[in-house]
Amino acid sequence: MGPTDQEREIIRRIFDFDEHGTTQMFDDVMENPVSKYTDPGHLQREIEVLFRQFPIAIAHRSQLANPGDFLTHGETGVPILVTRTEGGHLKAFLNVCRHRGATLESEPCGNARRFSCPYHAWTYDLDGALRGLPQPVGFDSVDRAGAGLVELPVFDHFGLIWVVPSPRHEPIDIDAWFAPLEENLGGLNLGEHHLFRSWTLHRDMNWRILLEGFQESYHFCSAHRHTACSSYLDNQSVWTDLYPHVRHSVPLPRVLEYRDQPEDTWDYRSNFMDQNYVFPANFAQVMTDHVYIHTVIPTGVDSCVFQCMMLTPEEPATEKAERHYQKNFDVVRVVFDEDFAIGEGIQQGLATGANQHFTFGRYECGLHLGQRSIDAALAGELRL
Ligand code: FES
Ligand SMILES: [Fe+2]
Repeated sequence: MGPTDQEREIIRRIFDFDEHGTTQMFDDVMENPVSKYTDPGHLQREIEVLFRQFPIAIAHRSQLANPGDFLTHGETGVPILVTRTEGGHLKAFLNVCRHRGATLESEPCGNARRFSCPYHAWTYDLDGALRGLPQPVGFDSVDRAGAGLVELPVFDHFGLIWVVPSPRHEPIDIDAWFAPLEENLGGLNLGEHHLFRSWTLHRDMNWRILLEGFQESYHFCSAHRHTACSSYLDNQSVWTDLYPHVRHSVPLPRVLEYRDQPEDTWDYRSNFMDQNYVFPANFAQVMTDHVYIHTVIPTGVDSCVFQCMMLTPEEPATEKAERHYQKNFDVVRVVFDEDFAIGEGIQQGLATGANQHFTFGRYECGLHLGQRSIDAALAGELRL
């Protein structure tokens, strides 16, 4: 199978850049006010819209493979409980007891048939139904059917578990939401991948600063001079607008060798790193032989949490394969830390007033496109 139409177009553009000494550029630079990174009211609005009304990736399918599997997630500020029911369905709930609001399940993950509240032992099943309470006579007029856990929208798409962290009554067309990404993520078979590593980092910077580190490649040969720089063509990325998402294709130098070869022989995957921005706060970073899924969530105006999963096509069967993926994991941790150290420096500089705005250069197309989607959602023009 040759490259997709989108991939052919990306590769042709790389040849064009190389031939003419150019790269992809916006018409103009953009000034983004620093208040978008510092104003607590703005952050509150971002949380209410971006982190309550849109899907956030919280797990890989394998983490909820069997009936009774559950996991909890609290990083968005909303306590979430996700279950695989005895009937095999995926469900998500507010992890909040309906009696007097205690956190129902505090383990990060496990397998269970029932959840018993630690406060007064009201008990719920995997479908969220209230199944029992001690000394029920004191609650004889309570409608038990209406006292089940409050459901949240949850989806398994691209092999990942996505939750919208607020209750929703209208149906959601999740296929339509992810359709623009189907061509480049749908064929990766991520659901069959192996969760090789997952990690969570708390970092002292506004979430947008961390997000933006993955939206341009202009910084590779300065911030990552001794690491990622040599692996990629410098500042030759292609951004494909998949509104509200963005495909960011970073070419490896050897892709230029395809210039004189028939298009059907081109292989996209082995010649690119893709940093797909999955609106509002996720990335699917597709490497030549494995994939990282990142999620960035604000925890304050000057702090955020970064969650990452490393997915490999299969569980490493040999020590050599294990070492190969481990080496990639070790390198990516170093590269990300280079970004995060710079990001925390930016955060410290914000309070000085040195900048009234940040300048998005014409090369930094992912910043422009990402900002456009975020602004549209905050203005109520983009909805799930
Ligand atoms: S708060 Fe959960 S049983 Fe009372
Ligand atoms: Fe970086």
